[in-house]
Amino acid sequence: MIQEITAQELNTEQFISEKIEKIKEAVGDGVAINALSGGVDSSTVTMLGHRAIGERLKTVFIENGLMREGEPEQVVGLFKDLGVTVEIIDARKEFFEALKGVTDPEEKREAITQTFYRNVFGRIVKESGAKHLLQGTILTDVDETVAGIKRQHNVFEQLGIDPKETFGYSIIEPLIQLRKDGVRKVGQALGLPTEMFERIPFPGPALAARVIGEATPERVETVRKATVVVERLLKDTGAFQYMAILHEDRVTGMSDGKRDFGQQIEVRCWDSVDARTATPTQLSFDMLEKVAHEIIHEVPGIVSVTYNIAPKPPSTMEAV
Ligand code: XMP
Repeated sequence: MIQEITAQELNTEQFISEKIEKIKEAVGDGVAINALSGGVDSSTVTMLGHRAIGERLKTVFIENGLMREGEPEQVVGLFKDLGVTVEIIDARKEFFEALKGVTDPEEKREAITQTFYRNVFGRIVKESGAKHLLQGTILTDVDETVAGIKRQHNVFEQLGIDPKETFGYSIIEPLIQLRKDGVRKVGQALGLPTEMFERIPFPGPALAARVIGEATPERVETVRKATVVVERLLKDTGAFQYMAILHEDRVTGMSDGKRDFGQQIEVRCWDSVDARTATPTQLSFDMLEKVAHEIIHEVPGIVSVTYNIAPKPPSTMEAV
């Protein structure tokens, strides 16, 4: 049983010094490694780890080909300003190889998990000589996975998987007693810039969670382009999260005066407090038309744009 620390009862400074001690103790004079995605959890863990063991924490950004436009460079640049060196590891080929022909949502998540932890990380860990992986798992990840709602890619022990046996390294999870609001407090106290906390949530399986059916490089590129439009136009709505989803079904449309059996993008925009339940944001029809117009013009092959109006539950926020 993990002992929850609520954001209200969290003593940030005490928490930080305790976790720094724990990390120091666990790693000893060895080397640890962590993967930074740029999200709040992995960013906070990166800062915590560097406070604890400095250069002996090697931080990598795994370029899996599934991230948003310009994301790897942005994340690396931001951490450079904070004095943390991040190495980009190009693993696009391996991820797309693993995703080839996979259409089932859970199989897709599993393919990403295995590629990440076994293949890519397994290799990096071996090369670096690290025996520890520092990871930003939070209590909500554990809850959702154990409840069988959605398999979060970073949960093992609670599912009876021994990472040491399975992958050959142990996992340190300093944030596991916290929820998102607690992590934000810790991250802020560690000097992460406020823009980082204003970012909307983004799932671990990244854009692969936004492609229904096979996530090929081409299909991911399509949803990436649509994501640029949706994020640009909806950023001032105050919504909790917004996204573009590429459907598998094709629909008849017209391009350049000819019939085209084209692709469709579904837009979702959510009002939510904690992501456990959510309702679609009441966007104005003008805004919806603008989104549709720009997606159609900026994303090749799209002939249909829809807006999801079903709440969670029974919908989930992501489509995969
Ligand atoms: P769902 O789709 O379960 O999403 O309603 C709830 C919130 O969680 C995010 N999400 C994930 N985050 N790894 C993550 O780190 C995942 O596998 C994952 N799946 C969903 C989603 O973006 C939303 O904010």
